Amino acid sequence: MHKILISREVYPEVLARLEQHFEVDYHAVDAPLTPKQLASRLADKDGVLTMPTERIDAALLAACPRLKVVCNSAVGYNNIDLDACTRAGVMATNTPGVLDDTTADIAWALLLASARHIAAADQWVRTGQWGGWKFKGWLGQDVHHATLGILGMGRIGQAVARRAAGFEMRVIYHNRTRLSAQREAECRATCVDRATLLRESDFLVLMLPYSPESHHAIGAAELAQMKPTAHLINVARGGIVDDAALIEALQARRIAGAGLDVFEGEPALDPRFFTLDNAVLTPHIGSASSATRMKMAMLAADNLIAALNGDRPPNLLNPQVEKPAR
Ligand code: GLV
Repeated sequence: MHKILISREVYPEVLARLEQHFEVDYHAVDAPLTPKQLASRLADKDGVLTMPTERIDAALLAACPRLKVVCNSAVGYNNIDLDACTRAGVMATNTPGVLDDTTADIAWALLLASARHIAAADQWVRTGQWGGWKFKGWLGQDVHHATLGILGMGRIGQAVARRAAGFEMRVIYHNRTRLSAQREAECRATCVDRATLLRESDFLVLMLPYSPESHHAIGAAELAQMKPTAHLINVARGGIVDDAALIEALQARRIAGAGLDVFEGEPALDPRFFTLDNAVLTPHIGSASSATRMKMAMLAADNLIAALNGDRPPNLLNPQVEKPAR
């Protein structure tokens, strides 16, 4: 029987499913193992169900000679060195598709919260500062009929775009490859160049995967091109935005606000974030609904079962490694 590790607490249903197939070593705690603990628990394993907080790199792989598959319970996989996996003959998988709507929902939650000062106003009420209704108090920005810009128009970007119809917004996007005319019509979205996207968006939502190419895709130069009334929403990955440049832009009111679920070096945020009254901050909870987390972990389990049974895992990221080299 193959041996696997589940690197974090998941649902009992996921554990039960995997126990039908494998000898399971379960880290039943919702906190990451240290890299050293991970290496030692993985040393005799054939597969692992991981979370985005676990770093899977060449050094770890070298310490795990039996490992054949790494199944991330996340769509993003920048925690996994895919080339190192391929070189080591280890399959890697992710969980695309099942979290699109949940993540699109939180992009909208942050967009609306940023536009209408929801987090700061809530804090103000709770701390007893509300002295009476004001005609000019807490004036925000209209979302309806504004221009929504989306950078990165994959499945989640498209789900964000589709939701804009109810707000009767104009939707523009920029992507490496243009969507088909049919997809554009479904999303009611127009493809524009990056400069137009930056210049014309009232709300700019980032939906790119993180990679060396998308590192600091939004920095001081890009923020300078945005409208002073614009809001930036990032539910993709920390590192796509240059956080120091964003903090400076928010402090100087070069843009109006930001809704952020992901940060460079999270969970250790730049402390200047805490002093901003024009940023809404959430702790990387984009896919965090019970139903979606269950689907993600079950999909990661499906991938693990397929891979170790000699079938092609449904979400294989490195098809070069179809037959594990060891
Ligand atoms: C979560 O961050 C994911 O990539 O699924």
